[in-house]
Amino acid sequence: MSHLSTPRDLFLHELGDILYVEQKLAEETLPKLITEVQSEELRKGFERHLDQTRGHVTNVEQVFDMLGAQPKAEECIGFEGLKKEHDQLVSESSQALIDLVDAGAAARTEHYEIAAYESLIAMARAMGESDAVTLLDENLKEEKKALREVESAAKTLTKEKSKALA
Ligand SMILES: [Fe+2]
Ligand SMILES: [Fe+2]
Repeated sequence: MSHLSTPRDLFLHELGDILYVEQKLAEETLPKLITEVQSEELRKGFERHLDQTRGHVTNVEQVFDMLGAQPKAEECIGFEGLKKEHDQLVSESSQALIDLVDAGAAARTEHYEIAAYESLIAMARAMGESDAVTLLDENLKEEKKALREVESAAKTLTKEKSKALA
């Protein structure tokens, strides 16, 4: 039975999907990555992004409020897939490669979040919800910055590891 019949229904569903991702990242995934990595640069980056991610949760909840809806997380199968892929790769990789595995998983997750926010922003704009656009855009900007940082850390790490493990 379909229960999504208007663009607003779809928007709220997609908003619940990103709420699920942000909550998981804040409560489980980023704290786990912080304890898993050895690189100081990566750890500090994940700690910074954990703080930002808590703000992302609040912003998304506020967007629900703006639309007069109750915040409701929807299980995000895409994110669960990324997590499963990460866990499998960790189990197949030597300890020396874990930082690179984590950096790659973090970059994929940022791309996923960026895609989600870009599509939510386009919908909010088309629905005339300009305050929602502003809040979602705050999150999007921080995701883009986090992606640049993790890509830069991965580049440095790849060079170091390539020398050390050659
Ligand atoms: Fe986020
Ligand atoms: Fe993020």
